[in-house]
Amino acid sequence: MPKRNMPEKNTIVYFNGKFMDKEKVCISPDDRGFLFADGLYEVIRSYRGTLFRAKEHLNRMGYGATHLKLGTTDFSELEEIARALLIKNNLESEDATLYFQVTRGAAKRSHPFPQPAPAPTIYAVASKFDPDPADKKRQNGIHIITTADTRWARCDMKTTALTPNILANQEAVEQGAQEAIFIRDGVMLEGSHSNFMAVFDNVLVTAPLSNYILGGITRKFILELCQQENIRVEERPIFEKDIHLATEMMIVGTTTEVTGIVGMNDILFREGKPGPFARKLQAAYVHAIESLKS
Ligand SMILES: Cc1ncc(COP(=O)(O)O)c(C=O)c1O
Repeated sequence: MPKRNMPEKNTIVYFNGKFMDKEKVCISPDDRGFLFADGLYEVIRSYRGTLFRAKEHLNRMGYGATHLKLGTTDFSELEEIARALLIKNNLESEDATLYFQVTRGAAKRSHPFPQPAPAPTIYAVASKFDPDPADKKRQNGIHIITTADTRWARCDMKTTALTPNILANQEAVEQGAQEAIFIRDGVMLEGSHSNFMAVFDNVLVTAPLSNYILGGITRKFILELCQQENIRVEERPIFEKDIHLATEMMIVGTTTEVTGIVGMNDILFREGKPGPFARKLQAAYVHAIESLKS
């Protein structure tokens, strides 16, 4: 059977210390991830076998785990596990994503941390990533909606409690858009699964790091690319009332990379074409990825 059409049941995943068929994974209904979304996740991109900024992703998981007071806060071993998953699933020369999840583990349902602490549940899976849909969005740009940020005040932790993100993204889809940008106190903070950037007077602006946004690994990378490309950057709030002054808007993230925005709340932006900053950053991104592989 060709590798590309490998059915789900042949997927080898990592679960609590072992590699196994995905179908054999057995998660307790008492798992606090299931009961309380008491856990964290990460998504890492693999470009034909090269993991992109894996250490930064795993450090972010460690940061979240420290704040959630999980028993385990060092996830560095997952990098090796990611590589093993790519090999075991014949994905070393394909584009892929690695999904990792850790929860506080399984224990009788009760709000406080269980005593004694159960072993954390750790799961990892590699999936083939078809780059074409994302490429198409990068070429054509995407439409966004804006929506009230109903999330909690610890968006800097990548927890699996994604209900507001799911609802916001669904609202976008129902309105024919691809991403929803959260607005809190008049500030356009970030997307449901991406960070948000806009260009004002030739300066690329993005929300400063705080508890109200996820410190995106791509956001950081884009800010590095801006330095390399001599693009001025300001990390400051983007007020919704000022967005009509922006000459460009874009989202950035692990799967979206840099994608220009060509419409907001049903209003066409830039006559429906991504702008020069998005194009320049996309080219720099591709170049950086190419040089990773060589
Ligand atoms: C809410 C949110 N903000 C930003 C991002 C972008 O983060 P990264 O660049 O690390 O993928 C994500 C990614 O899933 C996200 O869920």
